[in-house]
Amino acid sequence: MRVLGIETSCDETSAAVVRDGRFVESCVIASSKSDFGAMGGVIPEEAARKQLESMLPVIKLALEKAKAKEADIDCIAVTYGPGLLGSLLVGTSAARVLSSVWNIPLIPVHHTLGHLSSTWLTDEKEADEPTFPVITLSVSGGHSDVWYRESHTKGRLLGSTRDDAAGEAFDKGAVLLGLGYPGGPALSALADGGDEAAYPFPRPLHADGSLDFSFSGLKTSLKYLLRDLGDASKDEMIRRNIAASYQYAICRHLSDRIGDALHRMENINEVHVVGGVAANKRLRSLLTETLPKNVALRWPSKIVYCTDNAAMIASAGFFLCSEKKTFGTFATSATLEHTKVVGD
Ligand code: KG4
Ligand code: ZN
Repeated sequence: MRVLGIETSCDETSAAVVRDGRFVESCVIASSKSDFGAMGGVIPEEAARKQLESMLPVIKLALEKAKAKEADIDCIAVTYGPGLLGSLLVGTSAARVLSSVWNIPLIPVHHTLGHLSSTWLTDEKEADEPTFPVITLSVSGGHSDVWYRESHTKGRLLGSTRDDAAGEAFDKGAVLLGLGYPGGPALSALADGGDEAAYPFPRPLHADGSLDFSFSGLKTSLKYLLRDLGDASKDEMIRRNIAASYQYAICRHLSDRIGDALHRMENINEVHVVGGVAANKRLRSLLTETLPKNVALRWPSKIVYCTDNAAMIASAGFFLCSEKKTFGTFATSATLEHTKVVGD
């Protein structure tokens, strides 16, 4: 089954063709991120205008790259939320029109379910398939969640952030350090070669017994550190050390929680890390160093599948249909069935 995925929840306009939920035949992403570099964040109205211009060319290019014609597409999967309203309207309107004109089903997909499916995506013809049960850390600019997953559509949210998301912590830290948007890659580049033990940051929610996250205290600590250092914080080496220490504090908080989740849940085969922050090199190395070796550690096979993309939406759409045996409707939310069980 070939699914055309469409994703426009933030500043990206993306379309992709994915076969059987895994094999990426094309994934086109147009981004207006660079336009917002100086602003420290996305301007929703501006992003939606750009998406309106690029939506149809992006879909056309995705079909061309996949060497697919209309008749080769079996259904369309589109992000219905959460996200910027104007941006979502561009993607969902395009998807509705195409599904009606091509007379094929339309699958509404929750953005988070897209990220959770991204570890199934591959460009290889033969790639090993992840096996459930899985613990997934989903960390992006909008959320930080830790999930227990028995299948694509059955899972439990074990913990999530009480304030900022992990990506937000990177973005806000980058603003404090005078770096551009998006802050994650910029802060991570500054941290390269820095001493992460130079400035110890507090351990958020340490010993509170939950699997929740909190990042706003780290951001405040960074603000006060920069204030206390005064002019010294402009020195290049000191800036590198600050960035490395701050990045380490975020990554350690995430890896501590995964360690705690593994202690609580039994028979976990794999730990997956998805979302924009999964692109972070230090997070990857820290998890590799600290997690038990009998659990397979997996992140999306390419960096573009970590950040927002339509291939993950096509993948989630495929697995939703195959497990639920229905295409879903926009009236009912086609998302994970979950109950929050923090503290059990
Ligand atoms: O998943 P994503 O593209 O969009 C959302 O759904 O939010 O994630 C974007 C977030 C941004 O906060 C960005 O700063 C962060 O992911 N990010 C990173 C890196 N690349 C992107 N954070 C840390 N290190 C990176 N290399
Ligand atoms: Zn996302």
